[in-house]
Amino acid sequence: MSKITINSLHAAKQKGEKFTVLTAYDATFAHLASAAGVEVLLVGDSLGMVLQGKDSTVPVTLDEMCYHTAAVARGNQGSLIMADMPFMSYATPQQAMASAAALMQAGAHMVKLEGGAWLVDTVAMLTERGIPVCAHLGLTPQYVHKFGGYKVQGRDNAAAEQMLADAKAMQAAGADLLLLECVPSALAARVTAAVQTPVIGIGAGNATDAQVLVCYDMLGMNPGRIPKFVKNYMTGAQGISDAIGRYVAEVKAGTFPGPEHGFDA
Ligand code: KIV
Repeated sequence: MSKITINSLHAAKQKGEKFTVLTAYDATFAHLASAAGVEVLLVGDSLGMVLQGKDSTVPVTLDEMCYHTAAVARGNQGSLIMADMPFMSYATPQQAMASAAALMQAGAHMVKLEGGAWLVDTVAMLTERGIPVCAHLGLTPQYVHKFGGYKVQGRDNAAAEQMLADAKAMQAAGADLLLLECVPSALAARVTAAVQTPVIGIGAGNATDAQVLVCYDMLGMNPGRIPKFVKNYMTGAQGISDAIGRYVAEVKAGTFPGPEHGFDA
């Protein structure tokens, strides 16, 4: 796989080619996923839950994110590394700049933050200073206490229109990628068609330009409740690399996710 950049992801959207995103938290998984053709490695703050056993992403710190980003960078074989900005590390644009700089210096190629229109100034400030940004909309896990749980977002008309407006505002502010989590498949299709920015989905149907899964989920390493949007690629696989390769192949072919992995309005 040649080196993945923001430009190659934008070109993929223009050509109608889907790309694959997978979380990675350490050098070994980063190496395997990258070598299997995953275009974007997400150092997700989901590490707070799947690695640390916490009940949300809220306690994850910037130092922890930098530690795992550096480990992923050491194993990477040419994928684009996207690191999550953890809870309250971007509450103001100034704070966002310092936090994003730390993640980029640890080895990230871009950062991801959660939220809509209120982040316009922050996204503009980061992108103007050379830090590519992915804006995460829909079920934003750092808002779990405000949402009152992990719930599908954008189901009513007003919320759907707001999400569409947020996506356009993030694009106008300079966001290089968007990510939609747990939104009705029809709404995700509308957002994807309305923006030139590539859209990654998780629990958002298969009309988005890319898909992301948590690596532990798609390898069947989930001792708790298995989310509806997860597929276990270890079933019938000849090992971890083969499972990741199947995930990549199904995303590219548009056969994952199936209708059973998505949500209705
Ligand atoms: O932290 C994470 O892994 C994420 C994905 C679930 C999209 O943000």
